[in-house]
Amino acid sequence: MQHDGSGRIAVQNLSKHFGPVAAVQNLSFTVEPGSVTGFLGPNGAGKTTTLRMLLGLVTPSSGVATINGRTHDQLGNPATVVGSVLENEGFHPKRSALNHLRVYAAAIGVPDRRAEEVLGLVGLSSAAHRRAGDFSLGMRQRLALATALLGNPQVLVLDEPANGLDPEGIVWLRNFLRAYAREGRTVLVSSHLLSEVEQTIDQVVIISAGMTRYFGSLEQLRQGQRSRVLVQPSDAGELVKALQENGITQLEPTQDGRVAVSGATVQQIGDIASKAGVALYGMQEERADLEQLFFQLTQGQYSAPQPQYGQPPQQGGWGGPPSGPQQQQQYPPNYQQQQPPPGHQQPGQQGGGWGGQG
Ligand SMILES: Nc1ncnc2c1ncn2[C@@H]1O[C@H](COP(=O)(O)OP(=O)(O)OP(=O)(O)O)[C@@H](O)[C@H]1O
Ligand SMILES: [Mg+2]
Repeated sequence: MQHDGSGRIAVQNLSKHFGPVAAVQNLSFTVEPGSVTGFLGPNGAGKTTTLRMLLGLVTPSSGVATINGRTHDQLGNPATVVGSVLENEGFHPKRSALNHLRVYAAAIGVPDRRAEEVLGLVGLSSAAHRRAGDFSLGMRQRLALATALLGNPQVLVLDEPANGLDPEGIVWLRNFLRAYAREGRTVLVSSHLLSEVEQTIDQVVIISAGMTRYFGSLEQLRQGQRSRVLVQPSDAGELVKALQENGITQLEPTQDGRVAVSGATVQQIGDIASKAGVALYGMQEERADLEQLFFQLTQGQYSAPQPQYGQPPQQGGWGGPPSGPQQQQQYPPNYQQQQPPPGHQQPGQQGGGWGGQG
């Protein structure tokens, strides 16, 4: 393995225009080794275009995408640094899986036996002598992955790898990628479905309409989900007064006559109500799930973003995940594109913040 650097992927101010179509607009994010990073966005968001630029298959209109600080054409023998599976990988239909791999092994200068090894890694040993043209979609995905692994690369870039895999295949892929990352390698997987990769990834880059909406840890994104408690009091006026006296001021009436309380736990609300002599007939914790948050962040792709709770987001909509000093993360308060982080610094520390860009 050619560990000639950190295995870090850096995308800086990357843009690609196809005629009038702005496929990728000023995209910036980094992907660190040792983790599986999800590259998420709806159909047409610019995922494949970005990955193709990273892999030297499409020339950026502006900006740069690097692996180990180098663009793809500066990598020397790229197959030993980055392995990739993109959409619609083609195979010679009559060639056996093993022969297909041997041809590629020869092309990148790795020994023949590596072809058998990678077939084993993807669970295709028993199909080694079958024609790739007869393979099912899921088997073709596995063969494409085997091809990507030939050079024992430090970085794996997979475009929608779960497409065509059966449930068992998805679990297998998840375990495989997580183990690969645990070896200190970099794994970037794209998907248009958060739920499909949620259990596989620990970092996430979310894009929409060619722009970065968030990047950072999935955990931080989860923690940032705004939750509310819906309270059914005997006397709403008294409850609101008591809560406000205790510094809990994010209160809203709901349509069904309850009080929606943000920024307080069920226990805090119960204690305050009890001290104030207000009876509570019910409390329900409402937590928006990650999938909803994903829609929230990406629906600008086809329409203007809608606030979740019927009013403009305050203090950054969902509040945004808490910023850890070591975390690189971006959370656009107004769902607008941020200024790219110079030198990949924490975006929250930039004076410029999130400037709206067209
Ligand atoms: N070669 C091309 N010529 C013209 N337009 C292109 C080309 N490649 C991509 N596009 C356009 O760029 C935009 C982004 O496409 P891209 O394939 O990168 O999206 P994606 O996020 O991978 O979507 P999906 O989830 O459907 O795979 C789309 O509007 C697409 O039509
Ligand atoms: Mg795509």
